[in-house]
Amino acid sequence: MEQNFSNEQSTLDVLILAAGLGTRMRSNLAKVLHKIDNRPLINHVCRTATALAPRKIYVVIGHQGEDVKKAVLEELNEEHAAFAWQKEQLGTGHAVNSAREFLENEDSTLLVLSGDVPMIRAETLAALVQKHHTHRGKGATCTVLTVKLEDPSGYGRVVRDSAGLFDKIVEQKDATDEEKQVKEINSGIYCFNTKKLYSALSRVKNENAQGEYYLTDVPRLLREEGEDIAIYQHNDSKEVSGINTRVELADLERTLCRRTISRLMLDYGVTFVDPKNAYISESANIGRDTIIYPNVTIEKDTEIGDGCVIRGGTRITNSRIGRGVEILDNCVITDSEIADNCTVGPMAHLRGHAKMEESAKVGNFVELKKTILGRGSKANHLTYLGDATIGEKTNIGAGTITCNYDGKNKHATSIGNNVKIGSDTMLIAPIKVGDGAVTGAGSVVTKDVESNKLVVGAPARAIKTLNQEDS
Ligand code: UD1
Ligand code: MG
Repeated sequence: MEQNFSNEQSTLDVLILAAGLGTRMRSNLAKVLHKIDNRPLINHVCRTATALAPRKIYVVIGHQGEDVKKAVLEELNEEHAAFAWQKEQLGTGHAVNSAREFLENEDSTLLVLSGDVPMIRAETLAALVQKHHTHRGKGATCTVLTVKLEDPSGYGRVVRDSAGLFDKIVEQKDATDEEKQVKEINSGIYCFNTKKLYSALSRVKNENAQGEYYLTDVPRLLREEGEDIAIYQHNDSKEVSGINTRVELADLERTLCRRTISRLMLDYGVTFVDPKNAYISESANIGRDTIIYPNVTIEKDTEIGDGCVIRGGTRITNSRIGRGVEILDNCVITDSEIADNCTVGPMAHLRGHAKMEESAKVGNFVELKKTILGRGSKANHLTYLGDATIGEKTNIGAGTITCNYDGKNKHATSIGNNVKIGSDTMLIAPIKVGDGAVTGAGSVVTKDVESNKLVVGAPARAIKTLNQEDS
């Protein structure tokens, strides 16, 4: 569902703060590179920001900046992204200041986002921008997105004056006991008049408990100059949860997954035998009347059709599954395609663009790599099929191996229609087996087999003495 939340009233730019290490994560990895739903936090924020169709998205980078940049460019086109380096992390105000050269003279609205607040929805940001532009008929200079929290500890508190209007934001570490009682918190998400933001930012000092330049001082400075500061109070606190610790990371992972599973049950008619024990990516699609057993993991843009059964312990990543497919327990399926009415597993492994055509069957301890298994064909037991193309209604006996690797290069195997490969056949690639051919149990097939031929045998015998170059 592509939605466009662009706002016609003023040019919109986005600035995402992502330079901090995130000390409280106790990690060697920069906080915004930690993942939920298998994507770095910063990518979630970038994707959401894109839905507002801004002119440009600026990202402030510092800690592991090159890696953060790489992650961002997986999500955004180069012409829509720009990066500002913050060499030393001296606070959120200092971070915004790092992008001064790009923005200080821009006649735009600047939406400031935090790289560590990944659950925010585009609809909410659009409502914030709307409020910013329409506040008291002429718009505000700054609009702060807030929520009320039962337990506001750790967050900056939004203090209002006696008329209920914005007064200031006080960080937890600078707050008086009375201010700590305030339940309304700063989400770290704001809209600013870009020019006025940068003008006020020059006056921000670091005289506070953390010795940092706080972005949160800017709204107060603007208010003192008589500018209008608006508050947009949102009601879904989960959306603005910042991730500062691994406990919060795990918490949001679960929240996002629960949200996805509820949507799949309520809107798409998917059955979850145990919804608390399934791990489904937000970007996966699953069809009606499909049943998902416990401990199933479905990752990335996986598509699963109607009426499938996915048994416990299976992991499916970036794959396309048709209708009426049965996947038994403990399978791993990556970057692969399975057509309608196939059965797979238990304990099968499909990877590297494996493809099963309609009604094909793969049984236990079978691995398919970069292999096409044709319509109605079967590989039921203990088999490795790599770099192979297999026709229709062919049976691959137990223990068959395509010997595709000679130690240096990979080679292809081609097997026709209605072939019977006997148990324990070794197919030494490159090799072709014609339609209707049969191989006897234990054959070692080194030469192409013509259609409708039966080949057998494999006496092991010495053929040469290996020298250094051969090994
Ligand atoms: C900040 C807000 C707080 C708010 C909370 C919401 C300030 C001073 N406080 O606190 O009012 O309730 O967010 O989540 O703004 N960053 C940089 N450079 C820096 C410092 C931070 O890029 O020098 C980035 C971080 O990578 C992070 C974001 O800014 O993505 C927020 O920084 P963080 O240290 O998490 O601020 P909080 O203490 O959470
Ligand atoms: Mg934070």
